[in-house]
Amino acid sequence: MKGLILAGGTATRLFPLTIVTNKHLLPIYDRPMIYYPLETLAGMGIQEVMVIVGGKSVGDVVELLGDGEHFGLRLTYRYQRGALGIAHAIGLARDFVGNDAFCCVLGDNILRGSALAPVAREFEVGPWGAGTLLYRVPDPERFGVAELAADGTVLGFEEKPAVPKSDLIPIGVYFLRPDAFGVIDLLAPSGRGELEITDVLNHYIPGGGLFARRFDGHWADAGTVASLLRAAELASAADEVGELSAPPPRPLA
Ligand code: G1P
Repeated sequence: MKGLILAGGTATRLFPLTIVTNKHLLPIYDRPMIYYPLETLAGMGIQEVMVIVGGKSVGDVVELLGDGEHFGLRLTYRYQRGALGIAHAIGLARDFVGNDAFCCVLGDNILRGSALAPVAREFEVGPWGAGTLLYRVPDPERFGVAELAADGTVLGFEEKPAVPKSDLIPIGVYFLRPDAFGVIDLLAPSGRGELEITDVLNHYIPGGGLFARRFDGHWADAGTVASLLRAAELASAADEVGELSAPPPRPLA
């Protein structure tokens, strides 16, 4: 499998922290935010990763991560012009992905306490067109929200609904195949002017093409000031139980 990290966007919800720098460079505990999704992909056994950059300080992101050798990864980059959405960013990886299945992790998603290699493998060898991990949150209206049947099957996702149909959200870890690029080509921008990943996931639900698993670890995105703090607490707890690579990987001279 290949990997994708999305590190674009304008991060207005974190102003003034992100007026002059890229959100994904902000510190979370003892390392820059973007180290966590890289470690998430590396933990799945993925080695070839494209980082989609955009917004502020793009050169600093490249300077920090380099060719990825210090993470045991091979990194390549693409530039996303503007905050055009997660699905738009994924669409930029078409040539990089080729014929492989891939996992996309949002650059501000911090995960701990769950081994994802078996989940990635299950998707890779399985029949599904797309997959995501569901997690219970107290404030689902901030996210994509799953609607579930009585037996737990996902009936659909709504992006930031005023009245959420559940408290289960798809976290920013998506399993996809090259087929998704054709789906993205046909998407129209949402009310916030973005191509939405939830629309891609919804495409696969009829016919049973969606792979959905409960994420049984701990999760935070770091997109707001409150969640930035929670992400740091998760990272610190992960360090205490030896789940973080310590010390943080440093670029080779
Ligand atoms: C995005 C997705 C949303 C998902 C969330 C997870 O939200 O659109 O479906 O639940 O990431 O972090 P955004 O960061 O664009 O607000």
